[in-house]
Amino acid sequence: MMTTVDTEALRALTPGCESVAHFNHAGASLPSRAVLDTIIGHLQDEARLGPMEAALRATDCLDAVRDEAAALLGARPQEIAFGPSGSALWGAAFAALPPFAPGDRILVGRQEWGGNLATMKAEAARTGIMIETMPVREDGSVDAERLAGMIDRRVRLISLTWLPANGGLINDAAAVGRVARAAGIPYFIDAGQAVGQIPVDVAALGCDVLKAAGRKYLRGPRGTAILYVSERFLPTLRPAALDVLSAPLIDGEPKIRSDARRFETSEHAVALRLGLGRALAEARQIGIDAIRARIWSLAERLRQTLATLPGVRVLDLGQEKSGIVSFAVNGFSATAIQRELADRHINIGANGLAYTPLDMSARGLTEIARASVSYLNTEAEIDRLRETLARIMAGKD
Ligand SMILES: Cc1ncc(COP(=O)(O)O)c(C=O)c1O
Repeated sequence: MMTTVDTEALRALTPGCESVAHFNHAGASLPSRAVLDTIIGHLQDEARLGPMEAALRATDCLDAVRDEAAALLGARPQEIAFGPSGSALWGAAFAALPPFAPGDRILVGRQEWGGNLATMKAEAARTGIMIETMPVREDGSVDAERLAGMIDRRVRLISLTWLPANGGLINDAAAVGRVARAAGIPYFIDAGQAVGQIPVDVAALGCDVLKAAGRKYLRGPRGTAILYVSERFLPTLRPAALDVLSAPLIDGEPKIRSDARRFETSEHAVALRLGLGRALAEARQIGIDAIRARIWSLAERLRQTLATLPGVRVLDLGQEKSGIVSFAVNGFSATAIQRELADRHINIGANGLAYTPLDMSARGLTEIARASVSYLNTEAEIDRLRETLARIMAGKD
């Protein structure tokens, strides 16, 4: 494990660093050459040996991917499931909860991911449950003390997006976990932007369910995601969809697996999962503390740099901040600025209302431009982003 990140060495092992200045790690990061080789190598094995036969040969490696994911989250391997998307896994866990009744309450954070919210709203339309937003502090982060005052016996779920998609705020997910645990209420965390960026310890968070994407700060392949379900909570969840892996028929009856793989399907992209395993191992090798420290210092530098540009407004809330830097540029929509920068080989993101509807509406925002940094970025890239933005705004170039 490194105590500091060797940015130049890691960039040399990342093909994308040669061609773009990538500030879209919150959308999807750049994989290492080793991740790429792992994926391609397995696809070649599939073509050469037969796909089923290649998977059989990779059994130990696939088990190791689960061990890596568990180690990164402070979980047990049997508490980990993999799937193709974080939202799909979150939705599967939600659909597996015991049935709701009209008047049941779900408490969500103001920065709840729009995909999770869509799933909950559809359930509300079907069953008459109520979705309520947890109170926030002045800095926009969830207020766990006031949350405690909202709890009654009708609250059936607390759902928190830890690091929101639309800015640098970091919610105090552990404080929410203490309220949930004290009241015995199921607690789901969307850690889509957290895993691979900041330390994650599911026991300290006090969550029952946590999910993350492989492609973001973990630098795994697209089409991979991780679900954690605590061993104590698993028996309460009955997946809506089953197959021969999650619930083999025994004496004609489906026997739901006792571990988190009850949320997996027999068919999956083996090459991608192996690629994810490689990315997980790399993250642990670099060290999450070192990653966190490097991202924090680069993101602070980026915020300060952008703030010096007339016509640019940094929009991040929160005290403790992540690598996500949200901003607005006078005279340009977020997608226009994204396009202008892309033309100059600089990648950023642009988020609309649908991704974080509660927070955007509460703040009167319809969109944000988003530059998300990782430990792969350099100070020189930040300077280039600033200079390029200044030229675009001045109509030069
Ligand atoms: C907090 C958060 N949750 C969920 C997602 C989406 O995850 P997925 O595309 O894996 O469903 C994102 C970003 O795209 C996100 O920022």
